[in-house]
Amino acid sequence: MKKLVGLKRPVRTKPFPVWPVYDKLEQKALENTLKSNKWGCIDGNKVSEFEKKFANFHNAKFGICVNSGTKALEIALKALGIKSGDEVIVPAYTFIATAYAVAEVGATPVFVDIDNNSYNISPIEIEKAITKKTKAIIPVYFGGMPADMDSILKIAKKHNLFILEDAAQAHGSEYKGKKVGTIGDISIFSFQSSKNMTCGEGGIILTNNETLAKKCKSLVNCGRKEGEPWYMHYTLGGNSRLTEFQAAILLAQLTRVKKHNEIREKNAKLLTEKLKQIKGIEPLERDKNVTTNSYHLYIFKYKSKYFNGIPRDKFIKALNEEGIPASGGYIMPLTRQPAFNSKIGETADFSLRYSQIHLPACEQACKEAVWLPHYVLLGDKKDVEDIVEAIKKIQKHI
Ligand SMILES: Cc1ncc(COP(=O)(O)O)c(C=O)c1O
Repeated sequence: MKKLVGLKRPVRTKPFPVWPVYDKLEQKALENTLKSNKWGCIDGNKVSEFEKKFANFHNAKFGICVNSGTKALEIALKALGIKSGDEVIVPAYTFIATAYAVAEVGATPVFVDIDNNSYNISPIEIEKAITKKTKAIIPVYFGGMPADMDSILKIAKKHNLFILEDAAQAHGSEYKGKKVGTIGDISIFSFQSSKNMTCGEGGIILTNNETLAKKCKSLVNCGRKEGEPWYMHYTLGGNSRLTEFQAAILLAQLTRVKKHNEIREKNAKLLTEKLKQIKGIEPLERDKNVTTNSYHLYIFKYKSKYFNGIPRDKFIKALNEEGIPASGGYIMPLTRQPAFNSKIGETADFSLRYSQIHLPACEQACKEAVWLPHYVLLGDKKDVEDIVEAIKKIQKHI
């Protein structure tokens, strides 16, 4: 097939760093767990060791491992007591799990627009969406960048609302010098395979609140209570436990998070400087309070008028042909997903028809965002220069 830019040699033939990263640490940890004959967290101590270490890394008192980030959201909401009749404010530009979990506990997700500069939930829109039924806000740290938490904390305090931080993409991110995870009441992280630290699938809940931590622990483990008989069940909870193998891998992965964040921050800074010089490419703005962005995604806006009117998706295809991994991300705001619209969806039973809600900043982001995966920032200066060169080449020749 004919290449879009028409010049034979792609800018980049060398692959970017492969993700996930592993070495002898993971190999040894897996082998040790295998040989220990303690494969489940009921028998072994890797899960509890990881819970402590990950919580400690984020300066949280309690960590509770869960078998996915989605389940972690659901359990955190249940622990907060969110139920049918309650409303929970979520951004419409996020992975479906954020809103699915709200619906799964029987509450109503209330979708609000994002801030056009950061792609994070807009505090102004949050305030407008509050009703008597609102119980919680879920700010998503999109791409790893903490949201405007000063404003969100103020709103939550004023209206007596819980904050559940969706830090699925934000391992080690910092806001005003403080790690994310305990800025609100409770938080979740994901360890799914694309995430900045991973064990294939998995998640964790963090909190400083002992009551919430105990509730979560019980909900993850069939409604049991620590120290009580095995066949006593105090609440309706399923089995959402992580395995010892997963925790063994995560313990190894955790040793690299800080270093990886530093490398990504350094490369992202250089990339932003260079991209800002290209007409039609606008990197997302960084909130002045963001100390560390984990850069799960590096995102910039693409303005087609500076690229001869070439649509965003064609630009991304050309970028891929130049050897740069990139995607357009979410294809529509969650409000337009079939799952949230009873008329077109197969599973929705909401009386609300979300697709009638117009969220202009979310719509715009779905049209003009370009996402680069975090591992393209794990290399060196040459990798960054290749991304810039590829974009310049496309602009010149497409
Ligand atoms: C913002 C956000 N929230 C929640 C999740 C759910 O995590 P998991 O895939 O581990 O269930 C994800 C994962 O992609 C996510 O990106």
